[in-house]
Amino acid sequence: MMAAADETTSSTWSDTANTVREEEPPPQPPQEGDVAAAVPPSSRSPVALITAGSAGVGAATARLLARRGYRVVINFSHNTERARKVVGELQQLSCLPAHEIQNEHGNAFLAIRADLGRRDEIGRLVRETVVQMGRLDVVFSNGGWTKFRDMTSIDDNAIDEDWDMCFNINVKSHLWLMQAAKRHLDEAEGAFITTASTAGITPSGSSLAYSVTKAAQIHLVKNLAVMAAPRIRVNSVSPGLLLTEWSDRFSEQAKDAYRQKTKLKCFPTVEDVAEQVLTFAKSRSMTGVNVPLDAGFIV
Ligand SMILES: NC(=O)c1ccc[n+]([C@@H]2O[C@H](COP(=O)([O-])OP(=O)(O)OC[C@H]3O[C@@H](n4cnc5c(N)ncnc54)[C@H](OP(=O)(O)O)[C@@H]3O)[C@@H](O)[C@H]2O)c1
Repeated sequence: MMAAADETTSSTWSDTANTVREEEPPPQPPQEGDVAAAVPPSSRSPVALITAGSAGVGAATARLLARRGYRVVINFSHNTERARKVVGELQQLSCLPAHEIQNEHGNAFLAIRADLGRRDEIGRLVRETVVQMGRLDVVFSNGGWTKFRDMTSIDDNAIDEDWDMCFNINVKSHLWLMQAAKRHLDEAEGAFITTASTAGITPSGSSLAYSVTKAAQIHLVKNLAVMAAPRIRVNSVSPGLLLTEWSDRFSEQAKDAYRQKTKLKCFPTVEDVAEQVLTFAKSRSMTGVNVPLDAGFIV
């Protein structure tokens, strides 16, 4: 679960350490169809901004985009050390030439601290990204918030603070981010992608406020796809239960019940979500789409 940041300070962070990568496969050269391959050598590589990007879905997507030739800014709220480590990993995974990963103009990978619960911080996040990177091609608006509640009890789900936080982060933060990024995505003919949830498609998930606001988020995305056309594509991905820190608070029994209910008898993975985000980033033919990635939970 994301908790709202209680600190208002912010920082931009990048790593130039050349650490040895032991477990990851060697960086692959750009393949046909990859964005980096489509960019003329004289241009600077495309830039993706990923909110809530230092863990879970966001970090997995940052890794994939780095492998595919993107420069990446990850956003985080509290854990500077974790964000620093992810930035170091991205540098190692990148298929960009060394002089593009770090040069006198800056770094290809950055972490920017900003609280997604605050509109002014979201505006600053976009401004800092564009100042540091010079362009913005893809925004992956991945932040979400919940407080786990008893899904059999209306009383337990009628807490004002929960609803306010859920609307703020799960709905409004995506709108504020789109508004702040629109001019830059227009210029790049870029993509805006959000992480919704299967809880927004069928009654399920961690709380009623979460389920309802994720449904609102999916509808927001469809409206934004209409409003941002024809230059910007807007889509969402809706994962089922992913084994990230977020879902640590589901009991083992609840997780097992989820898996048993899926047609594929497994959990969806953050890597598959990342692949879907990359597809949205590259595809020129999809907008207003919400893709469930749930191992067949809602079939
Ligand atoms: N996990 C699931 O089962 C599941 C299923 C469906 C949908 N989703 C959705 O997937 C998205 C990502 O979930 P996840 O499971 O990857 O989460 P996660 O593993 O818990 O990752 C949390 C990330 O959010 C950042 N964060 C927390 N509060 C923040 C704030 N106020 N402002 C900016 N960043 C903040 C954290 O940074 P710090 O560590 O620095 O705070 C970290 O980078 C959410 O939208 C969620 O609703 C998740």
